[in-house]
Amino acid sequence: MALHATVVMLASLVFSGFVNVAQSQAPNTDVDLLNLVQNMEFLTAEYLLYGVTGLGLDAIAPELAQGGPPPVGGRLAFLDPFLKDVYFQFALQKVGHLRAIRSVAPGIPRPLLNISKNLFADFVDATLGRRLVPRFDPYANSLNYALGFYGVSYFAPTGYVGISPELQNSTFKRLTAGLMGVEFGQEAVTRSYLYERRNHLIASYNVTVTELTNGLADLRNTLGGVGTISEGLVVPPSEGAEGRVSGNVLAGNNDSLAYGALPRALLRILYGGGDEHVPGAFYPKGANGRIAQSYLNSPMS
Ligand SMILES: *[C@@H]1O[C@H](CO)[C@@H](O)[C@H](O)[C@H]1NC(C)=O
Ligand SMILES: *[C@@H]1O[C@H](CO)[C@@H](O)[C@H](O)[C@H]1NC(C)=O
Ligand SMILES: *[C@@H]1O[C@H](CO)[C@@H](O)[C@H](O)[C@H]1NC(C)=O
Ligand SMILES: *[C@@H]1O[C@H](CO)[C@@H](O)[C@H](O)[C@H]1NC(C)=O
Repeated sequence: MALHATVVMLASLVFSGFVNVAQSQAPNTDVDLLNLVQNMEFLTAEYLLYGVTGLGLDAIAPELAQGGPPPVGGRLAFLDPFLKDVYFQFALQKVGHLRAIRSVAPGIPRPLLNISKNLFADFVDATLGRRLVPRFDPYANSLNYALGFYGVSYFAPTGYVGISPELQNSTFKRLTAGLMGVEFGQEAVTRSYLYERRNHLIASYNVTVTELTNGLADLRNTLGGVGTISEGLVVPPSEGAEGRVSGNVLAGNNDSLAYGALPRALLRILYGGGDEHVPGAFYPKGANGRIAQSYLNSPMS
């Protein structure tokens, strides 16, 4: 009986392993690639909608969640009128993005998202290498909320740059360029707001905005495991534009081109543990769509 069960289990492991190897070797279609980044659109959409309105996507366009579970931990943030205005605009733009994706591709159900303050606090602690007391709360004030958005707004535009050379269909290329433009704009507005405050201490801590944002960029590079794909607000001059300036309000490579990253590297960061096969952090059950699911189903590859 036990042996039989073992044999059945082994057989099913071998079989599922075989299927997954076949799956992960199939070329990524445009739909697969766009769906991967759609996971990141859901993340920022929910962070913004909750922060500004106290309610998520289900309150404004429930059909776009495509039956996925509501996020965990979203909260109304204490925002000054300026950021509330700006981030409300961004939140609504995200709804448009999700609809636009849905209009060209079947789309994916919203994955389970963890946007609780403790999750952001985990990232901040990992960035600084020490546990802050009290714990960091992205919903507590405007600066913290902007820092939280700096944390999550990086992924979708970087993903669009990463997937764009792989796209085949001009409808998808046009959509991706359009999404990427506004996504980088949203990130840039936030970086600019933070750059202006780069020497400010974050409330309750002896930590500057520069220290946290630079550290978070380093953490992303470490978790991503593919070299530099992220830069903070202040860099050594050799890393700045034309190798001669340390201010780095917009990140870019040596020719000041935007960094792109492939799904694997982005998932390693978003899952918090540097492994695209092990879900966690923002996606406790993993991201949706064929690419993310192929990693989850093949822990050895
Ligand atoms: C490109 O994608 C669009 C939207 O899904 C589809 O209608 C069109 O047929 C595709 N074109 C090609 C050449 O595959
Ligand atoms: C969300 O993240 C926090 C902080 O790590 C954790 O305590 C909580 O259990 C997570 N929730 C889910 C549903 O994963
Ligand atoms: C705050 O941090 C700075 C720079 O790391 C350090 O020089 C200073 O002593 C710290 N102050 C306190 C009160 O911890
Ligand atoms: C960028 O420039 C710096 C300084 O000149 C150099 O050390 C680094 O290798 C360059 N990186 C790339 C990817 O070319």
